[in-house]
Amino acid sequence: MFPKILVPIDGSPLSMKAIDIAQGLIQSGRGNRLTLLHVTSDEDDLIEKTQKFAEQVLDEGMKRVAPGVQVDIEMQVGKPPDTISQAAQAGRYDLIVMGTRGLSPLKGILIGSVSAKVSALSPCHVFLVK
Ligand SMILES: Nc1ncnc2c1ncn2[C@@H]1O[C@H](COP(=O)(O)OP(=O)(O)OP(=O)(O)O)[C@@H](O)[C@H]1O
Ligand SMILES: [Mg+2]
Repeated sequence: MFPKILVPIDGSPLSMKAIDIAQGLIQSGRGNRLTLLHVTSDEDDLIEKTQKFAEQVLDEGMKRVAPGVQVDIEMQVGKPPDTISQAAQAGRYDLIVMGTRGLSPLKGILIGSVSAKVSALSPCHVFLVK
């Protein structure tokens, strides 16, 4: 049972698939509520552009959530892996569901740096979606 599920999304197809898997857990009685989190990197200068991107990503994510599933959205600024792990700890999440890969165009890599660091740093279970 995973009462609180955190789904970090970057707008990539695998992060959207992570939303489907997380809400499937809730719909089958294995969880209660979902939080969609997008982190805008603090290393990016184009704050306005990234703020707009963050809104688009969260909007797209919300559209995938079925009626009846309890969902919150969160937007944070920082280093994505650290910010996601800290959010999981501070919010006492029971599970993180995220993509194995994200937006990076590098096809060769098997696991993205954000997934690798979050699974290493987080206090809770991490479900990596393929
Ligand atoms: N800025 C972000 N905010 C929230 N979630 C993110 C963010 N970046 C990545 N994620 C999550 O991490 C998953 C894996 O993405 P990751 O960034 O690790 O892979 P990548 O983009 O392929 O590689 P890299 O970024 O290391 O070049 C995504 O599917 C998404 O769930
Ligand atoms: Mg990435």
